[in-house]
Amino acid sequence: MIEILNEKIFHLYNEKISYIFYIMENQQLGHLYYGGSLGAITAHDLAYFLERENKSAGTVKFSPDSGLFTLADRSQEYPVYGTSDFKEGALDIQVADELWYLDFQYAGYEQTAVKERSLGRPASYAYSGEAETLIIHMTDADHQLALELSFSIFADSSAIAKSQVLRNKGDRDIQLNKMLSGVLELPSADYEFIHLSGAWLKERHVKRRSLEQGTVSIGSLKGASGHQHNPFTALAHKQATLNDGQVYGTNLIYSGNFLAQAEVDEWQRTRFMVGIHPTHFSWQLEPEEIFQTPEAVLFYSDRGLNGLANEAARFTEQYVIDRKWAEKPRPIVFNNWEATYFEFDQEKLVTLAEEGQALGMECFVLDDGWFGQRDDDRSSLGDWFVDTRKFPNGIKAFAEQIHQMGLQLGIWFEPEMISPDSHLYEKHPEWVVRHPYERAAFGRGQYVLDFSNPEVVEAIYAQMKTIIEETQLEYIKWDMNRNITEAYSTYLKTTGRPQTEFFHRYILGVYHLYERILTDFPDILIEGCAGGGGRYDLGILFYSPQIWPSDDSDAVERLAIQSGTLLGYPLSSFSNHVSTSPNHQMDRYTSLKMRQEVCLFGPLGYELDVTQLKDTEKQAIQANIQFYKQHRSLLTHGTFFQLLSVEDTTNEVAWGVCNQDKSEWLIGFYRKLAQANPANIEYLKIPMIDQTKTYWINQTEQVTGSMLKEIGLKKPYQFNGVNHEQMHVSGDFQSTIYHLKEVR
Ligand code: GLA
Repeated sequence: MIEILNEKIFHLYNEKISYIFYIMENQQLGHLYYGGSLGAITAHDLAYFLERENKSAGTVKFSPDSGLFTLADRSQEYPVYGTSDFKEGALDIQVADELWYLDFQYAGYEQTAVKERSLGRPASYAYSGEAETLIIHMTDADHQLALELSFSIFADSSAIAKSQVLRNKGDRDIQLNKMLSGVLELPSADYEFIHLSGAWLKERHVKRRSLEQGTVSIGSLKGASGHQHNPFTALAHKQATLNDGQVYGTNLIYSGNFLAQAEVDEWQRTRFMVGIHPTHFSWQLEPEEIFQTPEAVLFYSDRGLNGLANEAARFTEQYVIDRKWAEKPRPIVFNNWEATYFEFDQEKLVTLAEEGQALGMECFVLDDGWFGQRDDDRSSLGDWFVDTRKFPNGIKAFAEQIHQMGLQLGIWFEPEMISPDSHLYEKHPEWVVRHPYERAAFGRGQYVLDFSNPEVVEAIYAQMKTIIEETQLEYIKWDMNRNITEAYSTYLKTTGRPQTEFFHRYILGVYHLYERILTDFPDILIEGCAGGGGRYDLGILFYSPQIWPSDDSDAVERLAIQSGTLLGYPLSSFSNHVSTSPNHQMDRYTSLKMRQEVCLFGPLGYELDVTQLKDTEKQAIQANIQFYKQHRSLLTHGTFFQLLSVEDTTNEVAWGVCNQDKSEWLIGFYRKLAQANPANIEYLKIPMIDQTKTYWINQTEQVTGSMLKEIGLKKPYQFNGVNHEQMHVSGDFQSTIYHLKEVR
């Protein structure tokens, strides 16, 4: 997978992609190519591309004796600002009031095939033979700095993972103001910048805009990746469609403040970069200390947005999420939040659990309100011991009851938070993230705990461990409901570290708590959550195989949320709960049929008062759960395709998922608003079906793959004012599931 030509050109390749960079005349690293595989090549093959005439696009030359050589002409691997290239760079350093203009020169390489999964920090991992990593050593002799640039390539994947380590080899402290993780330079600007953005209750809607000269960026300064923007971004060629054309993607295996940006220069070339957001960040590096960036991943596909989504999903399932979760079926969850909110006691919960169990659910998740004295969201965060008013016999007795029913048990925690009305706050007010100012912003009645302080992490872990052991817990819902303001740590102050390190140290503390839990309880399934989808990223997915993607459980809104999410993440990474109608976030009425059919795609759950259901509704839920159990592996780990548009404004949405040999498919078709006097016959084409096969449709009709590709599935027959007898669907919020199975 890695070849080195003339000790100068580095080629990482597999059957899908080639990634090429080289040592430039000035000994820095130039980028040459990332795209479809070129196969094995020779230096001779590349001579044509490397023989640059130095047309001198830039007016400033690299040095007086470098001829016409200017960095403005070149694509670079890890650019820095300050000499003959005026674009923003990936790395900024200063010492006292002096800015350093860096010059990292090639100093050798090493190769390794080891990429272990280590819980200390989220990063991609691979088993033997699945990945190779090339580490390039660079040195800046003037500034006594060593930089390692690491590039990994994976079997059967278009991904290139990049990370960097900077070492201070000098004898002075240096101040690192910026150190991004992923850079990709493209020779044109014929792309659309695609990002997944929104807000609470409307996370990860697909947004796109054309690149122009100048910079577009998205990011987060909230201490978490955030509801508003997601670290997954893409550059789709202007001519790329859903199934065709060149698309590049990037993501960051990180959960804190991030920046993703594309800068187009005056020659219409694009520099795409991602990493820790440099605003309010700097790191003090003492002699011999290192700083390691989070890992960035680049993806490539020439099969349009679906191709990119497949690449990102497969990579995430295989090389980021713990692979054991691909083998274990995800439990069908019953969560009591929208059923009870804070109004429950043990008896009520047991009744809900019994009812849920009778309907086929497999794991009871006890949500917020079981601890301290928490009857609303104003108190008790930080007091992770059971409220005996609600559980008179303790949490252990409740857990035993749940387990005796044959259900797994899950419990909600919000480990990073503290309520002012809590025992923890009385004991440790200094553990709160808070500036010494009088003024401190307040969110959802709570403060954030200082997770940059290892003692805090340890104290929270000790409390959680007791509960996990007492309840023999199978599942944790790990929530995080407010963002960080007035970022300031008493701990950093007392240890002499700069406050600008806070955000990064905070998120490392979060990862450390994950590490503590999963080291002691490796089989526990942790579901991530942050007021819904406020921290939906590869850092969290490294530890949590699934994330609650949004507090909005409305079936129509979920079409946009799930479509956006599926552009960058796998089906298995988000959980869907069927909730009541009218929906609690939108006050919208939708049928149970549609709610269940939207929730089928991904890990399934229910979150409504099951004791209030009519018999017909119970039967429908039982039937859906039975269907889901038969197809669970396909619906959580199958290959996903968008069949219509991914835009959130579209009236029709269609999702398809198939197994590896495409012999079985489940296709969901959804129409938000009914149309007046619609056409009698409309079709839904399946472009990626296997044309050599013939399929059963819903076990009743047989159709060839070619016909499904060229003509399509019949969309449900809509009501047109007169066809009362023949129509299949009427009114707004329609849905249909098709099951295709190869005729053998
Ligand atoms: C957040 C979560 C919800 C629920 C509540 C409980 O909003 O996203 O699912 O757990 O907290 O307070």
